[in-house]
Amino acid sequence: MLVVYALAVIGAIVVAAYLIDSLWSVLEMITSYLMPYFLPAEVLPLAKRFGPWAVITGSTDGIGKQYALELAQRGLNVVLISRNPDKLKSVAEEIEKLHSVKTKTIVADFAKGTEVYEHIEKELKDIPIGILVNNVGKQYDYPMPLCEIPATQAWEIINVNVVAVTSMTRMVLPAMVARGRGAVVNVSSGSELQPLPLMAVYAATKVYVRNFTFAVREEYAPQGIHVQHVSPLFVSTKMNTFSQRLLDGNLLVPDAKTYTRYAICTLGRVQTTTGYWLHGIQYLFIKLAPEWIRIKIGAHMNRGFREEHMQNVKIKAQ
Ligand SMILES: NC(=O)c1ccc[n+]([C@@H]2O[C@H](COP(=O)([O-])OP(=O)(O)OC[C@H]3O[C@@H](n4cnc5c(N)ncnc54)[C@H](OP(=O)(O)O)[C@@H]3O)[C@@H](O)[C@H]2O)c1
Repeated sequence: MLVVYALAVIGAIVVAAYLIDSLWSVLEMITSYLMPYFLPAEVLPLAKRFGPWAVITGSTDGIGKQYALELAQRGLNVVLISRNPDKLKSVAEEIEKLHSVKTKTIVADFAKGTEVYEHIEKELKDIPIGILVNNVGKQYDYPMPLCEIPATQAWEIINVNVVAVTSMTRMVLPAMVARGRGAVVNVSSGSELQPLPLMAVYAATKVYVRNFTFAVREEYAPQGIHVQHVSPLFVSTKMNTFSQRLLDGNLLVPDAKTYTRYAICTLGRVQTTTGYWLHGIQYLFIKLAPEWIRIKIGAHMNRGFREEHMQNVKIKAQ
């Protein structure tokens, strides 16, 4: 009889612990992903709170370009780092025309790996950087199994998605710490949520970004540094050229301008976010499913995108 009571008590404790844990994580998700959009406007402007200059990697297109525009609109001078000099010049001119801020451009191809950072560091030496947006990212050309992706491309994805976020953060942190303020925004991806078949390397790099961000945040928070994790789901940018459905966009797949208009509001307020309210709701539901189901759904979704891409290639070849 005693054994039955003991087992019943253990069972009740396990069920209670499971329920509390599940409800707590749902509550945490609601507060961290949805609350930012209901908070009042920032009390201290970003430039005053973190510093007068922002650096944005991958800032000639998509989300990075929009971050540069949004930060400039808030009065920050911006350093644009990207690989194409003509696009850099054109974005810098656009920003200076629209907003009365200074711009600086640095040409760097992050796909080349560690060799680019000495030059970037020299160029940034005398600039008081308040905000670093680690936005640059490289995706597969289209969903494919591991051995189909050319080895050079796999290394480029790792260099752009993993080495850049690590090296750039290491580069700017010491001066931020010396000034006792600063923000680092690391753009990850919803693909960090589970292993993603047919985009295995890309998704794994984003798990790195998430893990790295959470650890560095804990290390530098006591020194006044805000390290933010921004994890978008689909955004309509040229990164998703493999799917016309994604390029067309819809309410769940916003364009980069709409996405960033929301994401920027969370800077300095929220430590981890999808950046866009509808992505927040999607993220919450995705996380409720067990990982093995999410892997199956991800595989199914990517098989669909792969088929769509192959069809388009066939049609173009006819
Ligand atoms: N779009 C999405 O659905 C989505 C979803 C989740 C997460 N994200 C993440 O969001 C971030 C931005 O993506 P996005 O969709 O805005 O991409 P995008 O439209 O393709 O823009 C990427 C930017 O990075 C630059 N860039 C690419 N490779 C580079 C390299 N090797 N060296 C230097 N600059 C380089 C591009 O330069 P060019 O102008 O020369 O091309 C462009 O300015 C990435 O980290 C991505 O993983 C995107």
